[in-house]
Amino acid sequence: MAKSRSGVFKKEASELLNRFNASLPFDKKLYHEDIKGSIAHAKMLGKQGILTIKETDAIIDGLKKILFEIESGKFGFAIEDEDIHMAIEKRLGEIAGEEISGRLHTARSRNDQVATDFKLYVQNSLLELAQLTKEFIKTLLGVAKNHTKTLLPGMTHLQHAQPVNFAFHLLAYMYMFKRDIERMQSSYERNNYSPLGSAAFAGTPYPIDRQRSAEKLGFTAPMSNAMDGVSDRDFALEILFNISVLMTHISRLAEELVLWSSIEFGFITLSDEYSTGSSIMPQKKNPDVPELLRGKTGRVYGNLVGLLTVLKGLPLAYNKDMQEDKEGVFDSVETAQISLRIINETIKTMHVNRENMQKACKKGHLSATDLADYLVTHCGIPFREAHFITGKAVAKADELGVDISQMSYLELQKIESKIGKDVEKYISLEASMNARTSKGGTAESATAEQLIEIAEWLKKIKS
Ligand code: ARG
Repeated sequence: MAKSRSGVFKKEASELLNRFNASLPFDKKLYHEDIKGSIAHAKMLGKQGILTIKETDAIIDGLKKILFEIESGKFGFAIEDEDIHMAIEKRLGEIAGEEISGRLHTARSRNDQVATDFKLYVQNSLLELAQLTKEFIKTLLGVAKNHTKTLLPGMTHLQHAQPVNFAFHLLAYMYMFKRDIERMQSSYERNNYSPLGSAAFAGTPYPIDRQRSAEKLGFTAPMSNAMDGVSDRDFALEILFNISVLMTHISRLAEELVLWSSIEFGFITLSDEYSTGSSIMPQKKNPDVPELLRGKTGRVYGNLVGLLTVLKGLPLAYNKDMQEDKEGVFDSVETAQISLRIINETIKTMHVNRENMQKACKKGHLSATDLADYLVTHCGIPFREAHFITGKAVAKADELGVDISQMSYLELQKIESKIGKDVEKYISLEASMNARTSKGGTAESATAEQLIEIAEWLKKIKS
């Protein structure tokens, strides 16, 4: 039997209703969490004397058998069963007899059951995503370590601005992904409270032990208010938001990979394993991986906005609208998992064209700021005036067809007589990069500190 339709109904559900109402096609993914939740609930009921030992054992054996059937592909899913909770309960009736299976739902409702199952899935996904993100940071760190001296043009407005080293540039991403992990960890802690035992929404008259079932499922404690217990989907919103930010970071790196692998930049070459071809232009190698990563960010945002919209204005407690909470979360989690895996491999296998990065630094007068700083610190000129004089020097460099970093001091002296021979060592590209020794700066010494900080943090965090 195991039907949500009680004796109050005189007619069968229409086939159209079954199709429209069912969540089984997508929530069957939660079979593991559902069985785990039911076992914890049954054990607690047994311990509290609400079920006999015999009943408890029969229920647990039956649930384990169902787990095996599902995992070995022998379980028959039928749309009329509505959702994974009813499908499993129905099968339990066939295995253990309805007299026994019917007792599992004592002091429980599908409302707290689904919230528990879904939260278990989300919590586990947070741990998996944090682990994948950690692997990716390790890869970035590995690449960065070889490039503390590799100069590339740092940009603002996509215009050459100041020289930085490539490790420093990658570190900016490492810190973003570090925050992503921290966000996932804090969501995990904040939401690690069990809805189970909230029953329909008002609690239950049975003498249940919610702390016990919560702990069995790895939760810190039961949620304090049963109505909140069945209505809360913040945990789902948070994972969708966390993934949205993660994908924003991935998409920014992806965009740089697209730019860097173009002929115009030539900073990196993507490995053939992670490049695609054109069906018409035989010479082409396309960066489909980073492009898709950029694109997939869109669907992940869509899932977040979708669930926010579903939940907006919903009265308490459970409403069927909430069944729409799952597909977007599944999709975002799976998108983030494959995205992290493939960006990891793409970065691991790409070739860094050091020389091209270096060459690009000789365009755009990247060390102009250093000339201005020189005029301030060595010639006693106020910064505004120094800024103006440097502008003249840049114009002169353009006229001569050289970069400011290659201007001789003699040429510069013609513009400002206070300039000395020593200017050359301040306006070289290496000197410019290495002058930025402030904490968090691009100088090799400051970059090394950041590399150490990330490496130590990686060692500290739980894997
Ligand atoms: N399939 C439902 C969902 O995903 C389970 C909860 C059903 N509860 C109810 N009162 N109809 O939300």
